[in-house]
Amino acid sequence: METAKSSMYISQFRLWLLCFIIITLVSLSSSSRWYDDHISLREIKAEETFHFPKNFLFGTASSAYQYEGAYLTDGKTLSNWDVFTNISGKIADGSHGKIAVDHYHRYPGDLDLMEDLGVNSYRLSLSWARILPKGRFGDVNMGGIDHYNRMINDILKRGIEPFVTLTHYDIPQELEFRYGSWLNPQIREDFEHYANICFRYFGDRVKFWATFNEPNVQVILGYRTGTYPPSRCSKTFGNCSCGDSYIEPLLAAHNIIRSHVAAVNLYRTKFQEQQRGKIGIVMNTIWFEPVSDSLADRLAAERAQAFYLTWFLDPVVFGRYPREMREILGEDLPEFTKDDLKSSKNTLDFVGINQYTSRYAKDCLHSVCEPGKGGSRAEGFVYAKALKDGLPLGEPTGVNWFSVYPQGMEEMLMYATKRYKNIPLYVTENGFGENNTGVLLNDYRRVKFMSNYLDALKRAMRKGADVRGYFAWSLLDNFEWISGYTIRFGMYHVDFNTQERTPRLSASWYKNFIFQHRAQSKDD
Ligand code: FCB
Repeated sequence: METAKSSMYISQFRLWLLCFIIITLVSLSSSSRWYDDHISLREIKAEETFHFPKNFLFGTASSAYQYEGAYLTDGKTLSNWDVFTNISGKIADGSHGKIAVDHYHRYPGDLDLMEDLGVNSYRLSLSWARILPKGRFGDVNMGGIDHYNRMINDILKRGIEPFVTLTHYDIPQELEFRYGSWLNPQIREDFEHYANICFRYFGDRVKFWATFNEPNVQVILGYRTGTYPPSRCSKTFGNCSCGDSYIEPLLAAHNIIRSHVAAVNLYRTKFQEQQRGKIGIVMNTIWFEPVSDSLADRLAAERAQAFYLTWFLDPVVFGRYPREMREILGEDLPEFTKDDLKSSKNTLDFVGINQYTSRYAKDCLHSVCEPGKGGSRAEGFVYAKALKDGLPLGEPTGVNWFSVYPQGMEEMLMYATKRYKNIPLYVTENGFGENNTGVLLNDYRRVKFMSNYLDALKRAMRKGADVRGYFAWSLLDNFEWISGYTIRFGMYHVDFNTQERTPRLSASWYKNFIFQHRAQSKDD
């Protein structure tokens, strides 16, 4: 009897154990299914509802010479661009920026347009020749100071944050005449003096300063190819009466870097604590994709960054030029003095990234490149306009330097994030240019461009890039440097005869984009 009872208990226990195991297995498998579903749902949701941080800056960007006009108004004298555009044959349509889009007089209306778009920041540059017509060899021009004071107040009144660049290619011509501007180490004193005046008069209200706009473009076009002022280059690089395309860009860059460091150290020691602003630099960026998978081409793509971007950023973050430049240029690369080295590290609170285009990079160090196709020592032995299967990288536009490759935005932001250890980044320019083909208000290509590049920017932020702002280039069509008025970048069309501004499709698209992202934005 006892044994029959115990064997019954045992079989009941077995049954119970079996049920337990089955129930556990079923529930485990369903919970893991739930877990999987949950994860993928979460990922999809994140994809759909990306939240920009609440204080993310959405803005539009401009520059003094391209927008202001008023080239001799209220005490301003000639800048290097006033003089350069006066030389026949330099500008595609023979035009100049004497009137440009008359922003000097029409800025209140333009700020109304910005307010209507819903931007919370406006990136502008100051005209050095308006503030110090003779550099440090003359007085401060109070006409210029008053103008910018009024303008900054009007910007702030509209709830818009000014994001100010000290120099966007233009300098008082006086400095060119007197001592050859960027080729002369003296320019550092001039730049420091100018920065001091700007911090002193405007720094109580300006919380974002950039020392330079795209010094890489400035020295490459000014001193290597000679297509921008002061038009200096060697005969093999362009059509200039004098210059040295191998050496002068390096000297000009060195003087720019030392000027940047002087201005930042001045800001940090004399102004920053009280004024509580941030200071950085704005660089032009190109994403260089190796043209093939070969090690040589991959190294060439990295070298291309050294000879374009990290050329300026490494010195002001790490206190030295990038290794690739040092290896190739040796003694041609100027040296930093001991004093420079002490003061040049970490002189950036942020990096401004101007991102438009990407290119294939091909090695010319270990491989033979076709003569006349770039890839010189001055360019780091990289041919940076290579074609793959006969095609350039990205979709070509009507503008020769520019093809559309949104992925380049993500790559560039991640590259800067990794190299400079999560430094705060602002996309200080991004936009789409079209050849002057009539009024073209239905600019769906610009809308597609901005939408795709902003998606790429979000991808970079999801991966951890500390991006804090995006500035569309540009609110208005304007004077596009050597292309004059033949290329239009505006979300507003400008009739250059009447100065009438007319919104394009992209203006309403950007307005809606900002509105939606504001509504969903979160505290960071
Ligand atoms: C950038 C310049 C800016 C404008 C855009 C189209 O490289 O900084 O002034 O010309 O290109």
